[in-house]
Amino acid sequence: MKLKINNVNKIFNNDNKHHHVLKDISMDIEKGQFVSILGPSGCGKTTLLTIVAGFQSCDSGEIIVNSKMVSKPGPDRAFVFQNYALFPWMNVGDNIRYPMKQQKIPKGQREKRLNELLEMAQLTGKDKLYPHQISGGMKQRCAVVRALACSPEVLLMDEPLGAIDFQMRQNLQEELENLWLKDKTTVLMVTHDVDEAVYLSDRVIVMGTDKGKILEDMYIDIDRPRNRDSKSYLEYKMKLTDVLKKCNNK
Ligand SMILES: Nc1ncnc2c1ncn2[C@@H]1O[C@H](COP(=O)(O)OP(=O)(O)OP(=O)(O)O)[C@@H](O)[C@H]1O
Ligand SMILES: [Mg+2]
Repeated sequence: MKLKINNVNKIFNNDNKHHHVLKDISMDIEKGQFVSILGPSGCGKTTLLTIVAGFQSCDSGEIIVNSKMVSKPGPDRAFVFQNYALFPWMNVGDNIRYPMKQQKIPKGQREKRLNELLEMAQLTGKDKLYPHQISGGMKQRCAVVRALACSPEVLLMDEPLGAIDFQMRQNLQEELENLWLKDKTTVLMVTHDVDEAVYLSDRVIVMGTDKGKILEDMYIDIDRPRNRDSKSYLEYKMKLTDVLKKCNNK
């Protein structure tokens, strides 16, 4: 098992009130699996992802990566934020070099990896451009390959396409899939979008508003690249939409 989330509990204390956001949340994610988490706003998706990343701690429970318990951020887990969080003062090349410098990867190796990553993201020759000089799609590819730079065990993404309009979003989902197919990193991605979850995931987990309770854990058994109009694709979408409707009506 690549990533194990074991009985995680998280309670926030606001104004002397306890808010039990995650109760006994567990999931096991296999190596190379692309897993999405769907769920209504406020159900604790980002909280869970940031606990896995080690940005905040849980009150009880464990996060295990490759059989080792983790509690702080580390290069084994990379994170892609909703707004990409590229450094605006660094060009594309330096953005991608940054985590490798942090990890003190020797210059020769770093430059070789940079070239591989630029090629992977179809950004070859664009390394001198700054984030404001590139398109949304290029920014997204840059953010994903930056996250992959140090070959993390697990790639965590919190609504990586959340800020993107519908048409562009479908193209970017295809690009994200292609990047993932080249690398087959284990992925845990949060999304609001049922179509995105079905298009990209091997497995979709639905969390509900009752302390993040897992309402559904569905394997998407369709060959890639997926045809969004196929019967089985639409059936998966319908099933997941039904689960989400039920948790919104509660
Ligand atoms: N640092 C914090 N302090 C107090 N409460 C918090 C904190 N972070 C999150 N919460 C609360 O925990 C709950 C879950 O928040 P979280 O951001 O994980 O939801 P989410 O599922 O990611 O929602 P969305 O889909 O809107 O991004 C919310 O009620 C939120 O107000
Ligand atoms: Mg969130």
